[in-house]
Amino acid sequence: MTDHADHPVASAAASAVPTPQHLRTCLSRYPTGVTVVSYALAGQPRGVTVNAFTSVSLEPPLVLVSLARTARACELLSHGPFAVNVLRADQVDLALQFAGRPRPGARIKWQGEGEEGAAPYLDGTVAVFQCRPWRSYDGGDHVLHLGEVVTAEHRPGEPLLFCDGLFAMTGLPLFDSVAVRDGAGSVPWLAHVCRLHDSAC
Ligand SMILES: Cc1cc2nc3c(=O)[nH]c(=O)nc-3n(C[C@H](O)[C@H](O)[C@H](O)COP(=O)(O)O)c2cc1C
Repeated sequence: MTDHADHPVASAAASAVPTPQHLRTCLSRYPTGVTVVSYALAGQPRGVTVNAFTSVSLEPPLVLVSLARTARACELLSHGPFAVNVLRADQVDLALQFAGRPRPGARIKWQGEGEEGAAPYLDGTVAVFQCRPWRSYDGGDHVLHLGEVVTAEHRPGEPLLFCDGLFAMTGLPLFDSVAVRDGAGSVPWLAHVCRLHDSAC
C-alpha cells in the first residue's frame, strides 16, 4: 500500500453529484493562505477570516474575496473600503478569532484606525492590500467581492497555510520552484542541483 492510499482523504469515494460536505472535503485538498479581511463598522475595526482570496488583475489591480451571504461583512464590502491581511504562520490565534472562535489572550493590534478612505488593518501580517469596492457578483450562497487595490505592501515572515482543514506552514521549496522564481539561467548552480535532485528521485 502506498502513502497516498493511506491518506484519509484518498479513501473518500468519488461521487457523481457532490454533496456540500463532499465538495468541501475535495476543495480542502487545495492548499491556500489565510487572510483576515478587515473593515470599519460604526468606527470600530472588524474582521473576518477568509481563505477564498485570489488575485484577479494587475491592470487595473484587482483582487477577489468570496464571502458567505451569512457573514456580517458580506453586504459591507460592496460599500466601503476593506483591507486583506495575509496572516503570518504564528497568527493562528487571529485566524480563529475572526472565524468566530475567540481565543483567550489572542493579541489583536490594529493599525490605521480612523484613517479617511482606508480600512483598519492588522499589525504584523506578511502582506496587506488596501482595497476599495470594484464590483460584486453573485456566487450562489457566497458573494464574490472584487476590490481595487489602492495600496499593497509585504513584509518578511512565513505565511500561514490552510489545507485539509488544518493550519500549516510552508515546507522546503522544491528545486524546480527556484527555477520558476529566478529563472534557471540566472542561478549558475541550479542546473547542477536539479540534476542531483532528478537522479535522487
Ligand atoms: C481558515 C478559515 C477560512 C475561512 N474562509 C472563509 C471564506 O473564504 N469565506 C467565508 O465566507 N468564510 C470563511 N470562513 C468562515 C468565516 O471566517 C466565519 O464564518 C466568520 O465567523 C464569519 O464572520 P462573521 O462572524 O462576522 O459573520 C473561514 C474560516 C476559517 C477558519
